[in-house]
Amino acid sequence: MQGLISAHGGTLVNRVVSSTEAQTIRDEAANLPRIDLTPKQSCDLELIANGGYSPLTGFMGKDDFESVCKHMKLTSGDVWAIPVLLSVSSDNAPKVGQKCAMYAPNGVLQGVITAEEVYAHDKKLEIPNVFRTEDPEHPGVAKVLEEGDTCVGGPVEVLTLCVDPEGPEAFLDRRLTPAQTRALFQEKGWKTIVAFQTRNPIHRAHEYVCKSAQEICDGLLIHPLVGETKPGDIPADVRMDAIDVLVKDYYHPDHTAVTVLPAAMRYAGPREAIHHALMRKNYGCSHFIVGRDHAGVGDYYGTYDAQHIFDELDADNLGIQPLKFEHSGWSKKYGGMVSGKTFPWTKGDIVFLSGTKVREMLAAGEQPPAEFTRPEVAQVLMKWAQSQ
Ligand code: ADX
Repeated sequence: MQGLISAHGGTLVNRVVSSTEAQTIRDEAANLPRIDLTPKQSCDLELIANGGYSPLTGFMGKDDFESVCKHMKLTSGDVWAIPVLLSVSSDNAPKVGQKCAMYAPNGVLQGVITAEEVYAHDKKLEIPNVFRTEDPEHPGVAKVLEEGDTCVGGPVEVLTLCVDPEGPEAFLDRRLTPAQTRALFQEKGWKTIVAFQTRNPIHRAHEYVCKSAQEICDGLLIHPLVGETKPGDIPADVRMDAIDVLVKDYYHPDHTAVTVLPAAMRYAGPREAIHHALMRKNYGCSHFIVGRDHAGVGDYYGTYDAQHIFDELDADNLGIQPLKFEHSGWSKKYGGMVSGKTFPWTKGDIVFLSGTKVREMLAAGEQPPAEFTRPEVAQVLMKWAQSQ
């Protein structure tokens, strides 16, 4: 794809098999050892298959896992921040060399893996390095603690990208693969594209950073994450409705696209910011928005930790350019959106609501102020909150 950024590692991976191969795999699957994937693993498998995790062609082996934890690099030398592991319980571990059938959480046969390696899941190495905390209350740490003690590493072959095409979170017309977003950008004639990651409805501060970034790029890819999130986060279908009503009236159609990222959140703050950026590089984006406490949760990370971590990396190897934004919000004094860089912040001047406060207001049928979230978005969220 001339003109667009290269995939991470140089080649866009595709691990989806042809329909003939898929039929052969379906026929043999019943006789293979069975691995039931967690929602996170199922998301990871889709991203390996569609090239979102290029250059990975399967779940990580031990050397890559250790190198990622210790050095934020694959053994190939490519930057990589988050382990992509297929961990299973020790009593369900296959033998080295065995082929295993992997089933999505809804029971659909998603793919097969050839177990090139079977090794101990070193959670003591993974957790503090990836999450910068060992607190079992941290939602990402809690997930790793629940996972199996044995990892299976090896290449995968995948039968289907979306395992639940009828489900509320399929978004089939928006579930573009990296090859498809790249084709879309070419069709639109965009050379520089900034990606916006979000796991929330788009509030005014999100809109402000998107628009600011859009000024210096040909196109904006609004790329909400629709894979597994923690309880308490707004469901993906509601978020998409809220994004749609906003984009329809407030974004320029010639310079904006909305597609979804079928990834699971780790809530790993700084490390996950790199992970999010690398996926968007594979989707063909040249720039990536990193605002305040990107991919953070609670008080585990400093406001700008997810920006500082990019300074530790070899920018050439990363490829995609982070666009860093200060904490933004509506200033009453200024009468508009500002960031800590464009207008002096004074106490009580910025309209700020915590996620918890917003949820309480929505549930009580109270509309959050328009300075915080546009009324069209608030309406979608209130309707959902009250149906709960
Ligand atoms: S995230 O987990 O996907 O990072 P969220 O959807 O809240 O959470 O944020 C999406 C992006 O917007 C992230 O880059 C985040 O840093 C940025 N962001 C969120 N709120 C603000 C804000 N008030 N000011 C600046 N950037 C913000």
